[in-house]
Amino acid sequence: MAQENELEYRFVSDMVDTLTDSDIRKIAGLIGKKIQAGEKIFNLTIGDFNPKVFPVPEEFKEEVYKAYKDNQTNYPPIVGEPILRKVLSKFIKERENLDYTPDEFLIAGGGRPLIFTYFQACVNAGETVIFPVPSWNNNYYAHIVRSNIITLETRPEVDFMPLADMLKPHIKDAAVVSMCSPLNPTGTVLQEDNLKNICNLILEENARRKKSGIKPVYLIYDQIYWLLTYGDTKHFNPVKINPEMRKYTLFVDGMSKAFAGTGIRVGWGFGDDEVITKMKSIFSHMGAFPPKPEQIAASKYLSNDGWVDAYLKNFKKEVTARLGGFYKGFMMLKNKGYRVNAIAPQAAIYLTVQIDLLGMVKPDGKKIEKTEDITGYILDDAKVGLVPFSAFGSLENPTWYRLSVGTCTMEDVDKVIENLEVSLAKLKN
Ligand SMILES: Cc1ncc(COP(=O)(O)O)c(C=O)c1O
Repeated sequence: MAQENELEYRFVSDMVDTLTDSDIRKIAGLIGKKIQAGEKIFNLTIGDFNPKVFPVPEEFKEEVYKAYKDNQTNYPPIVGEPILRKVLSKFIKERENLDYTPDEFLIAGGGRPLIFTYFQACVNAGETVIFPVPSWNNNYYAHIVRSNIITLETRPEVDFMPLADMLKPHIKDAAVVSMCSPLNPTGTVLQEDNLKNICNLILEENARRKKSGIKPVYLIYDQIYWLLTYGDTKHFNPVKINPEMRKYTLFVDGMSKAFAGTGIRVGWGFGDDEVITKMKSIFSHMGAFPPKPEQIAASKYLSNDGWVDAYLKNFKKEVTARLGGFYKGFMMLKNKGYRVNAIAPQAAIYLTVQIDLLGMVKPDGKKIEKTEDITGYILDDAKVGLVPFSAFGSLENPTWYRLSVGTCTMEDVDKVIENLEVSLAKLKN
């Protein structure tokens, strides 16, 4: 038994002691328990794929086998295989018209080690990191580097995108602005004008800092979903919008999402040589590289335009069919008078939906008072798992949710809408 005057021991650093697990994983855990107990749940919570529904490209798999058979199993270079960096330099030139040399790339085990490295390289403890909410995991990376956090609460009217006016009052304090487009969790994109205004703010601020010898503000630009845009939606990037942004932009990209390759662990980052070079030593100590056979296979796969284009064409068709199906379903429910809404699909594997049940009364007589009650009701009654935007740091949008289609079949779409309708019909005002 603990003595009254016994000291409380901390076994780990304060940073780790206060680092929390992702809220999305907590919801996934809850759903996992229900599934284990035999319940049929439509789990639309995870930003992952069911490989049986969305397999990785067949040719990529073949190239991985070949690389193993060819004994490509020793250490890859710390910054990534030269052939892969060369292929990527060409890939982004041809597909995005961006000019980066192979030396300006870092190859990592997915997007995460890159974001981790960028934060480590750009932020001193106590400095400020700014990011919009809802957004994916910025809060954890900012916490790990012991930074001060400023969040920008975004609104549905502007597709949950940050605006330059929101950033303006804080830019002078920022070490890093971290943005993502297409955005996880919303599946919406930054529009050209908006991104242009944000870039202008960053450039003005950096011009001011240069005169006083202060470290610039960097823009981490996570575009891991950029190959997945639908219809008329266009992806914009800061360096195309204003070439002066090249010095301050750090890109995150990889095979995890556009090629359904979350388990492949091939990611890449790129940025101006001057900054990227500084990150190479962090990489050498982290050992963040993906296995060599995957790197060789990625270089073969990504250099074959025919393979890439054919895969993306089919993949986008399948994802759009699901996103469009859910959107149509939500609009049908809305038209019937239910308190739901959605933003038309633009990109990624996510649909932004609203389920505004606050104040309504459930069949058991209990009132729905907070986000958790909405999430719980649609999970328990409709058997549908969704992630509220509060799990992505947004505190002012308590009725909005991320719906992810990575694990869902076309048949699931109608069933989910049917289940939701039955459950919504049971509620009283
Ligand atoms: C916006 C965004 N960036 C990066 C990542 C990390 O990707 P990876 O699995 O390649 O580490 C994710 C994963 O969900 C993501 O949604």
